[in-house]
Amino acid sequence: NAADKGAYPFYMLKEIDEQPAVMRRLVSEYLDADGQPMVEEQMLADIADADHIYIIGAGTSYHAGLVGARMFEKFAKTPTTVHVSSEFAYEQPLLSAKPFFIFLSQSGETADSREVLVNVNKNHWPSLTITNVDKSTLSREATYTMLLFAGPEIAVASTKAYTAQIAVEAVLAKALGEYLKSEDAKDFDLKHELATVANGMQAITDSKDKLEEIVSHYLSKPRNAFYIGRGVDWAVSLEAALKLKEISYVQAEGFASGELKHGTIALIEKGTPVIGIITQDRTAGLTRSNLEETQARGASILTIVSRHLAKEDDTVILPDVNPYLTPLLSVVPAQLLAYYTSLGKGLDVDKPRNLAKSVTVQ
Ligand code: G6P
Repeated sequence: NAADKGAYPFYMLKEIDEQPAVMRRLVSEYLDADGQPMVEEQMLADIADADHIYIIGAGTSYHAGLVGARMFEKFAKTPTTVHVSSEFAYEQPLLSAKPFFIFLSQSGETADSREVLVNVNKNHWPSLTITNVDKSTLSREATYTMLLFAGPEIAVASTKAYTAQIAVEAVLAKALGEYLKSEDAKDFDLKHELATVANGMQAITDSKDKLEEIVSHYLSKPRNAFYIGRGVDWAVSLEAALKLKEISYVQAEGFASGELKHGTIALIEKGTPVIGIITQDRTAGLTRSNLEETQARGASILTIVSRHLAKEDDTVILPDVNPYLTPLLSVVPAQLLAYYTSLGKGLDVDKPRNLAKSVTVQ
């Protein structure tokens, strides 16, 4: 039974471990033998006809949107912005002439996102819901649906739905780019990349013990912590910090590493954990300098780094993958760090206080 915890103490750990299998499942659901995306043609025509993609989501789904937007712009050359649904619903920005809406929602039931979709439908704008739950409200009410095929996600803190959302966005970006004849999309060998991602995720989850040990040294006591990065590493920092907050109640912030010096660095004290995510060539050196600035003020620094950028004393080294897909790997150690911090404090990892898996009130 897919919803059975088996030998796992908590669903969250089971769901973290399921991520390589979810990646492989998505390859078989969405890519043919030649690696070409299998996506509804009419939907591609509708998106190709649009001049702007608006991604709408809440919580972890919003964070998955931040990663996806970069791929729609790179591979499909379509301007894309990402919006928190509870904000967009009540303060809609000035829209482009031909908008296309993508709703990201694990449950497909989030009331804030639905509020936006109701208005989208009133205006007869085309839309797609990317969700884990077939026939959920957001799926039924949108023009198109793409499923996450992640299997039931029971733990309140979302893990495999986040990585599945990013992988499905990659499929869509590739499909749309091919439809629009973009060279970048043609060169994006997603089938190969997702296989590499799956193996890389497996390698990270196989070395859990190391992450548990890191937690006991650096994360078990502090009341606050920072994840920092630039670009897509910043987007992952937001999700990484949210995991830590949700289940271990550490006041964590995901921060653009270059922005830290403009105020927030005042919060760094002796022993404050600052975790740098470093996967992008252009910004690796800059984030390293920003980490050193916090270290000079007493921070305990940790790093999550892509192999080709790694140095001897980096904490977690990630297998190399296409730079647009590094979030699929860099988030996994962060999920495990959050898990072990919560576990070490004796908290109910799967059912953190004050939170619900699906929020159906605005
Ligand atoms: C709740 C959950 C979060 C989730 C958010 C959006 O707050 O606790 O984990 O990210 O809702 O949910 P959705 O189902 O729309 O992705």
